[in-house]
Amino acid sequence: MSLKKIAVAIDGPAGAGKSSISKVVANQLDYLYIDTGAMYRAVTWAVLHEHIDVHNQQAVEQLLPSLNLSMEPTETACKVFIGGENITDFIRQPKINDNVSIIASYKAVRQYLVERQRAMAAVGGVILDGRDIGSVVLPKAELKIYLTASVETRAKRRWLEVQGTPNELPLEDIIASVTERDEMDKNRKESPLVQVPDAVLVDSSDMTFDETVAHILSLVEARTNYE
Ligand code: CDP
Ligand code: CDP
Repeated sequence: MSLKKIAVAIDGPAGAGKSSISKVVANQLDYLYIDTGAMYRAVTWAVLHEHIDVHNQQAVEQLLPSLNLSMEPTETACKVFIGGENITDFIRQPKINDNVSIIASYKAVRQYLVERQRAMAAVGGVILDGRDIGSVVLPKAELKIYLTASVETRAKRRWLEVQGTPNELPLEDIIASVTERDEMDKNRKESPLVQVPDAVLVDSSDMTFDETVAHILSLVEARTNYE
């Protein structure tokens, strides 16, 4: 008798707690955690690094075949490499936040990354977080969660995270940036952020980190049958 390992899809807006919660839940369950947002951030890093205009869709598409993007999921983070260079520490900068939703709106970029995400998820026992996991990447995931919180709560969390770092910004700027990114992600043509009908809604506005982890663990356990 062993516990069945399932695929868990966690979608939701910026700062809801998707990646930090997924990481802890995956560690506790001995699942593989894949941060798909880091992949869109990595492509954005490469576009800026090559001094390509983010609005030049054709030039962005032409970059994809030579990207050499790889991911290395570890217990503490999902490391991202471009051409063998570890860029994990550079993908959370404000200039990436400001451009990633433009890059993520391009169909060719999404096709390129979704293919890789599905290949990584094929091992089973996975948690993927992003915007289109339940709707596009893993439509057959056994558990889909839409994790959200009020925009004020989400921006405040991000603000606390960047205090004392080079990415520090006033709270109002973070509220504006998060709001703008959410709007773009929800209103784009290709794979917009949506709560699919079969997703469980989790609003973490009034939940502590540990409460959110416990709640999501209980949802996974409820879907995990003995076989
Ligand atoms: O951590 P945060 O929620 O701020 O963002 P993220 O998950 O790292 O995602 C960064 C951006 O990548 C999002 O704002 C989306 O534009 C894009 N993204 C996407 O389109 N589809 C995904 N599956 C994951 C991220
Ligand atoms: O991945 P996503 O953008 O959805 O959010 P995140 O980067 O995982 O979480 C943003 C911040 O919110 C992290 O510092 C978490 O520790 C924090 N958080 C929290 O304080 N309370 C929660 N219930 C969930 C997340």
